[in-house]
Amino acid sequence: MADSGEEIIRLEDVFKIFGPQPRGRAFDLVKAGLGKDEVLRRSGHVVGLNDVNFSVNQGEIFVVMGLSGSGKSTAIRTVNKLYDITHGHVWVDGTDVQTLDGTDLQLFRREKMGMVFQHFALFPHRNVIDNTGYGLKVQKVPKEERDIAALKALSLVGLEPYAYNATQELSGGMQQRVGLARALASDPDILLMDEAFSALDPLIRRQMQDEMMEIQNELHKTILFITHDLNEALRIGDRVCIMKDGAVVQIGTPEEILTQPATGYVAEFVQDVDQGRVIEVREVMSPPDPIDAGMSLSDALAAVGDRAGAFVVDAAGKPTAMLTVGDGLRAAGMGSTDLDAALRQDFERAAENTTLNEVYASAGRGLPIAVVDDSGALIGNVDPRNIMEEMGRVEGLIDGFEREVFL
Ligand SMILES: Nc1ncnc2c1ncn2[C@@H]1O[C@H](COP(=O)(O)OP(=O)(O)OP(=O)(O)O)[C@@H](O)[C@H]1O
Ligand SMILES: [Mg+2]
Repeated sequence: MADSGEEIIRLEDVFKIFGPQPRGRAFDLVKAGLGKDEVLRRSGHVVGLNDVNFSVNQGEIFVVMGLSGSGKSTAIRTVNKLYDITHGHVWVDGTDVQTLDGTDLQLFRREKMGMVFQHFALFPHRNVIDNTGYGLKVQKVPKEERDIAALKALSLVGLEPYAYNATQELSGGMQQRVGLARALASDPDILLMDEAFSALDPLIRRQMQDEMMEIQNELHKTILFITHDLNEALRIGDRVCIMKDGAVVQIGTPEEILTQPATGYVAEFVQDVDQGRVIEVREVMSPPDPIDAGMSLSDALAAVGDRAGAFVVDAAGKPTAMLTVGDGLRAAGMGSTDLDAALRQDFERAAENTTLNEVYASAGRGLPIAVVDDSGALIGNVDPRNIMEEMGRVEGLIDGFEREVFL
């Protein structure tokens, strides 16, 4: 197996054209830079993929997102060669999969990858465990061995108790879990998931996303995940690839997609997303610069400077109290010179990977937030204004793109 972080899937200059003569005039038109609609009008051929390049690293969840017809399924299907490509290369763990055929291809697929689709077809007359072990049965794995593997996979998706139930007795969500278990049963390095959760109710869907991320934390598979839902993409993706008309528009971490949309098209998508769910505290925090408990109130206020507040730390560097500008001025106004009288102990702590939404309530009250590391030591200070500014900056960016696009 490849080392963690190493590139395991790569699409390189991949074109896919659908029609009777994919390498003919249509291909020339695409190479000349004509768009999908124009190529269709002039040649009657459909552009599935237009010079697609991306790579997926070992252990990562790479999400391809785009509207219906943007080429997502076509892209994933080149990876297990359900589709032949018109031009380019598709590398999987060093093998040019498009050169494989017959039993070589079959073996490669079985050994390397599991696939989960939107409408996962289970065999209604087989029970859950037999459905889960079906791929292994095809591989002629003995019954006892495949039952062990199937039970293990079912336990990963929380369905072990249902192993001997009839598949008709399962809800849609449970059936989709069996689909995931089936893909996991042969323990492939790579999971190809095409709209695997799209048919599920929102609540069940979120549960499935959470479960998949839990399973991923344990198994570290390489997951190529297709969805048309940007929220899903940003929620589960380590990196997200946005496609339009068969071409890649942008590849980036969820945060990059949200904060640096490459085009107006991406910005428009991003507009409907709750930024605060993705941007992390580390993006907006300032150096901790704590105040000293032995200071006078006026020195402490001077040390806070133009921040909303600052923290007092103990010998281990852990924050023990907070001085806000408001509290300090109020105490001074009442004639106090004692820092202690103005300190408060009820303040919010957050890890640097906490999302802005999670600290939004504190920010809304105008209170600074103490960013602490695993040992509880102060590593940053978040000013509530920075949170508001970051959210505002992203909105401003989108407005900017909109003016560019529509005016
Ligand atoms: N077998 C095929 N024959 C002809 N055209 C096809 C075929 N498969 C896909 N296409 C075309 O290729 C383009 C990309 O389709 P694809 O299925 O990859 O889109 P998608 O992004 O997966 O969309 P959806 O979200 O609806 O599943 C579409 O215009 C589609 O019509
Ligand atoms: Mg599709």
